[in-house]
Amino acid sequence: ADGDATQGAKVFLKCRACHQVGETAKNAVGPELNGLFGRQTGSVPGYNYSPANKNSGIVWDETIFREYIQNPKAKIPGTKMSFPGLKDQTDIDNVIAYLKQFGPD
Ligand code: HEM
Repeated sequence: ADGDATQGAKVFLKCRACHQVGETAKNAVGPELNGLFGRQTGSVPGYNYSPANKNSGIVWDETIFREYIQNPKAKIPGTKMSFPGLKDQTDIDNVIAYLKQFGPD
């Protein structure tokens, strides 16, 4: 279903401990997430990825992101993202709508 970006901003509070988006976004515990959809995994300059993430061969699209965010360690075994995942499908729809607002720089 189509998500709601405003609700997605609330979901993203769970991600913000580690990830930034928007014009001032910098890499932090995790890489910045601008322009995520269409991006190759492990491709943000200056971010020190795990080999598992860097070499996963994934290009982020909605389908793969959905699988990943429900259980990151199942989709990319060995990832250093220590986040258990989002289980609620509406939360996932909404965070996708939120992230889509932030294109590549
Ligand atoms: C990586 C999304 C929460 C830490 C990633 C990647 C995505 C993502 C898409 C892969 C990026 C890439 O390949 O360039 C999210 C979303 C979150 C979330 C949507 C919330 C729902 C968190 C939290 C933490 C975290 C809470 C810290 C506790 C990391 C780290 C990586 C990463 C360290 C790099 C993984 C690696 O190199 O193995 N995240 N994340 N993330 N995330 Fe998250």
